[in-house]
Amino acid sequence: MFTVGILTASDKASGGKRQDQSGMVITEIINSLGWKVVTYLVVADDTDQIKNALLSMCDTQRLNLVLTSGGTGFGPRDNTPEATKAVIEREVPGIPEIMRWESVKKTPRAMLSRAVAGIRKQTLIINLPGSPKAVRECLEVILPALTHGLEILNGQTGECGQN
Ligand code: MTE
Repeated sequence: MFTVGILTASDKASGGKRQDQSGMVITEIINSLGWKVVTYLVVADDTDQIKNALLSMCDTQRLNLVLTSGGTGFGPRDNTPEATKAVIEREVPGIPEIMRWESVKKTPRAMLSRAVAGIRKQTLIINLPGSPKAVRECLEVILPALTHGLEILNGQTGECGQN
């Protein structure tokens, strides 16, 4: 069982002007895998707030996985990729690459997400776009490889032979 943090970046949701449906979708999917959502936070689209939340989830809580949602587009307040790049030590480009590649089959707008993924210490951080639909579509694409990646990151296996 992996420990998971969910971080929604949204000025509207953090200001109480919108319900965070994407956070609920992520929670539902993670629970269905039998993984444990340890922390769920909603912050404003502010680089420092996002960075501090990520640092706490990685360095203090030492979670296995952090899924962010929102703030990956072109808007002036879309700061999630920059905050993520500021804290990761090793980038994992394949994850956002495949998310965009598969998602563009559903909407050409998928190419507009600047999502990144990377590793800080023992934690894998993955940016997801902000809409509940996008969250569901992207998780569907990456989940088949995530268990293996998290097991390697945590020293639970070194074997890549099969699948
Ligand atoms: N990816 C998938 N799978 N499905 C979607 O509907 N929406 C796109 C894109 N990625 C979308 C998607 C849109 S419309 C935008 S603007 C970007 O993600 C950035 O979204 P964000 O700013 O909410 O992170």
